[in-house]
Amino acid sequence: MSEKDHRVSRRQFLNYTLTGVGGFMAAGMLMPMVRFAVDPVLKKGVDQDLVAVAQVDDITAEPKRVDFKVNQVDGWHESEEPRSAWVYKDKDGEIVALSPICKHLGCTVNWAGDKAHPNQFYCPCHDGRYYKDGKNVAGTPPMGPLDGYVQKVKDGTLYLGKAKPRGGA
Ligand code: FES
Repeated sequence: MSEKDHRVSRRQFLNYTLTGVGGFMAAGMLMPMVRFAVDPVLKKGVDQDLVAVAQVDDITAEPKRVDFKVNQVDGWHESEEPRSAWVYKDKDGEIVALSPICKHLGCTVNWAGDKAHPNQFYCPCHDGRYYKDGKNVAGTPPMGPLDGYVQKVKDGTLYLGKAKPRGGA
């Protein structure tokens, strides 16, 4: 190849230079905007943290309602959200923590709220019922079991995190 083939014309030089500088400036302007938009998504939500709700020794086989608050981060807005759970020990002594939110239309279920079915969770909105383990009673409006809370026991204290669907029908 001759030296002539490698020569860059003034027009090409200006094109390369302006494209490079323009790209650099565009990246410099876009990066903060992209980071601003994506940052909350990348941050671990405080909502995922576990909250102390009860002493394990106080939990019996009878479901008891515990109320607690979690820090909720929604984008740049931080707030304290009230939560509650039905907590009890099953026949094996394992702690069960169920969400009180009915899987039909979101009303709040109560333990033994229906005199005709004293050992079940009852949703008064449309007579929805759940067995003690949270499974929905067939023939009542809810189509799935109550959500279960992520839980952890440490030093005799029960900590709850997020309520998660447990599957089943
Ligand atoms: S909202 Fe619970 S049964 Fe309809």
